[in-house]
Amino acid sequence: MSDSIKIITTEDGSHSLYHEGLKETYHSFHGAYRESIHVFMLYGLDSWLARNPRRYPIRVFEVGFGTGLNAWLTLVWAEQNQIPVLYHSIEPFPVSKEIYSQLNYIEHDHSIWHYHKYFQALHEAPWNEGGPVSEYFNFKKDQVTLEDAQLYPSDVVFFDAFAPSKQPELWGKELLEKVEDSMNPGAAFVTYCAMGQLKRDLKSIGLEVESLPGPPGKKEMTRAWKPSWSE
Ligand SMILES: C[S@@+](CC[C@H](N)C(=O)[O-])C[C@H]1O[C@@H](n2cnc3c(N)ncnc32)[C@H](O)[C@@H]1O
Repeated sequence: MSDSIKIITTEDGSHSLYHEGLKETYHSFHGAYRESIHVFMLYGLDSWLARNPRRYPIRVFEVGFGTGLNAWLTLVWAEQNQIPVLYHSIEPFPVSKEIYSQLNYIEHDHSIWHYHKYFQALHEAPWNEGGPVSEYFNFKKDQVTLEDAQLYPSDVVFFDAFAPSKQPELWGKELLEKVEDSMNPGAAFVTYCAMGQLKRDLKSIGLEVESLPGPPGKKEMTRAWKPSWSE
């Protein structure tokens, strides 16, 4: 992938990145911040917690660390809810300091301004080494592709790869099975993508698939649950 990357402003005022080689943005153009809150916090973490109260720590696996927005919002979520989270992210093409230091996420919502220092901490954390970043948030990011990554057991998967039209290899059944294998019974897989083929593939590998309302500007998104032992 060519690494020519530009900062753009999405419709909710928050930044995203535009990958010139792929002609693809890192988030929805209708709002990066809103998308992350809606798809990953609300229909990912909040929903998992509603089904599994008091089952801590929550193990999150993210495909594509990118700008660090999902990871940072999860850290804020963990601190605000006082729920320990173990967060594992992978990213083969880390964003440079020149780019991430200009992103406007920490100014976007003043109510969480006091967590701003952690945004940089996540970017500055060493690659391929895990450790605590804040009281409730333990973090590991590996510089590796999904194809080559070693996955840990997870409770919530944030599948945030570039769109299937741009990186079809990441959405194939083989890699979905690899991710599904690492999911604990009862785990949730969430993605902004609502493609029919994805839903059929997730179903065919044994997940219970739901189509949910998408974030502003997008009709639908997808969530899939791995059956629990008792089901
Ligand atoms: C849609 S963006 C992710 C946005 C990110 N979650 C965020 O909050 O900014 C997709 C990410 O997947 C990464 N990526 C590209 N190829 C990959 C691969 N083979 N395996 C895992 N991640 C990959 C890209 O570099 C990019 O950062």
